[in-house]
Amino acid sequence: MSRYAETYAAWQADPQGFWQEAAKEIDWFTPATSVFNPDSGVYGRWFDGATCNTCYNCVDRHVADGHGDRLAVIHDSPVTGQVTRHTYAEVQAQVSALASVLRGMGVAKGDRVVIYMPMVAEAVFAMLACARLGAVHSVVFGGFAAAELATRIEDATPRAVISASCGIEPGRVIAYKPLLDEAISLSEHKPAHCVILQRETLRCDLTPGRDVDYAAAVRAAVAAGEGTECVEVAATDPLYILYTSGTTGQPKGVVRDNGGHMVALKWTMQHHYGVQPGEVFWAASDVGWVVGHSYICYGPLLHGATTVVYEGKPVGTPDAGAFWRVIRDHGVVALFTAPTALRAVRKEDPAGARIGDYDLSRFRTLFLAGERSDPATIEWAQEKLDRPVIDHWWQTETGWPMSGNPVGLGAFPVKLGSPGKPMPGYDIRVLDDDGQEVAPGTLGNIACKLPLPPSGFPTLWNAPERFLSSYMQEFPGYYATSDAGVIDEDGYVFIMARTDDIINVAGHRLSTGAMEEVIASHADIAECAVVGKADALKGQMPLGFFVTNDGADRDPAELERELVQLVRAKIGAVAAFKCALEVKRLPKTRSGKVLRGTVQKIADGASFKMPAAIDDPAILDEITAALKARNLIGHSA
Ligand code: COA
Ligand code: AMP
Repeated sequence: MSRYAETYAAWQADPQGFWQEAAKEIDWFTPATSVFNPDSGVYGRWFDGATCNTCYNCVDRHVADGHGDRLAVIHDSPVTGQVTRHTYAEVQAQVSALASVLRGMGVAKGDRVVIYMPMVAEAVFAMLACARLGAVHSVVFGGFAAAELATRIEDATPRAVISASCGIEPGRVIAYKPLLDEAISLSEHKPAHCVILQRETLRCDLTPGRDVDYAAAVRAAVAAGEGTECVEVAATDPLYILYTSGTTGQPKGVVRDNGGHMVALKWTMQHHYGVQPGEVFWAASDVGWVVGHSYICYGPLLHGATTVVYEGKPVGTPDAGAFWRVIRDHGVVALFTAPTALRAVRKEDPAGARIGDYDLSRFRTLFLAGERSDPATIEWAQEKLDRPVIDHWWQTETGWPMSGNPVGLGAFPVKLGSPGKPMPGYDIRVLDDDGQEVAPGTLGNIACKLPLPPSGFPTLWNAPERFLSSYMQEFPGYYATSDAGVIDEDGYVFIMARTDDIINVAGHRLSTGAMEEVIASHADIAECAVVGKADALKGQMPLGFFVTNDGADRDPAELERELVQLVRAKIGAVAAFKCALEVKRLPKTRSGKVLRGTVQKIADGASFKMPAAIDDPAILDEITAALKARNLIGHSA
């Protein structure tokens, strides 16, 4: 029997009491003066008046409780052929020493530190070292190009950057140092110091006066017996800024606080993921995404579990058995990944033959999030793994699942295509465009009644107005999620699409607006549009259309190559922008709005209604012809 319904009802009956109880799982320096203060911040703040330290709760308290010998972080790196393991006591020593190095550079409470690292254990140590000092980290995904890194450095104005000499993708080594140097030269803000982890695969030159060698500095701090205490911060102080895609090229700096974040994540480890302290939990994501923040770094460690930092892919490192190998080798009890990764595995091993090669006896549950889980993928995984496969839905803005299926409380029956029911803390409603609630089963805007629960973002870094205009003003009293979907008669949530111009490519959240800005910067381009076209593997792929300036007279294929290269150089390989078609005109409404939704439907081969406000319907035929000429209509395989 699932205890979901009674738990959700208990939260509804007494939200503050619910979170006050959950907060007992966290060690506080000073308890909260109010569990929730509705008069603080835009919609209230959780654990107002409390003081705490997130690193203390992730590391030191487990050592103090006698669990120093327990494994905390396993780095499994098929791309280098290495596996390293750190116990909680070892993590404490490493993190405390790194914090001392940062402190020596003048990093103090409230200062920002940008972390631009591949999937190495040191990326987690770097996050924890910042948390230890009360400094605010901002991790930038390694697949972003220098210009994206520069934007984040400029906005976060970090005192220091922690980076590495290289990242390793299958068949390709990415030199990080030139990207870092270029980003710093592009940014008006110049961080005073960089701590660089030298990797044997590709070492780099250090910039004198600015850069220090990570390992040497940490070694010296350990040898000198330098440690750092866990600095007391307010529960409402920021722990990190994580930039995520918005409707423009300027990403949104989602702010996360310390206290509420810890309370919520600790609750989910036990109740949503059903994991016990001491067990091994693996989120096969990247520390550059929110999943990596919450469930590679903070969640498992707050819980006293062991986390896996995996530097590899679901396929190709070396094969489609990679996930099952890691589960066996480390005794993983729960894996969290994106549906796209499973689709990649299924494509290479449709019969699931590799699964049988490994002893998965300790493995209990597979969790999926990051994009819509198509029923076929879930069914395949259910059948081949013979274990529960749990879809759950969340966003960078919330930091933990808004809807899901709490295995720790006893899972309720899965409905294919649904990421479960609202989690305690979330009062989710489906609204029409006028903000009226729609009947069950009706498609609408998914919104969440304020206040957001603990861990919900209190603001955007440097952009309080954008926080209001992007999220809080569309439906007063609600947080607008920018997802569209349905809640059915049984209370199951279904997430169908974004209502903005964000697309989801291989579980990565990308802004088509940002890509359009890059394409429009090309000297020969008059205007352009980017839409997300359905893709059997990656969910969506960006597809560009461009109109050249009068008299540009360019070879379309050559121009396409230039645009693809430009997006790769400005945004990064992760944008997966591979296709741009020349058209004479873009379809628009009479008021000049490009009809991206209609173009997307044509590209997907889906039916569409002729938009009433279209300026010239003939342009849709031109778009169709351009797509047909490249055999680009319909779901790409
Ligand atoms: N650093 C540098 N480059 C990176 C990178 C990183 N950390 N991560 C990805 N890239 C590059 C890739 O090498 C690739 O470059 P290419 O165009 O030269 O081939 C490009 O970005 C696109 O990468 P990706 O989207 O990962 O596609 P892929 O074809 O390499 O792999 C999958 C396909 C499905 C295996 C892969 O996308 C995957 O594992 N997805 C899961 C995503 C995930 O876990 N998301 C987190 C949400 S929970
Ligand atoms: P991110 O902020 O990068 O985690 O991306 C959040 C977005 O990913 C959401 O707004 C959804 O559009 C999408 N998403 C995440 N999880 C799911 C899911 N389980 N089902 C459908 N869409 C999802």
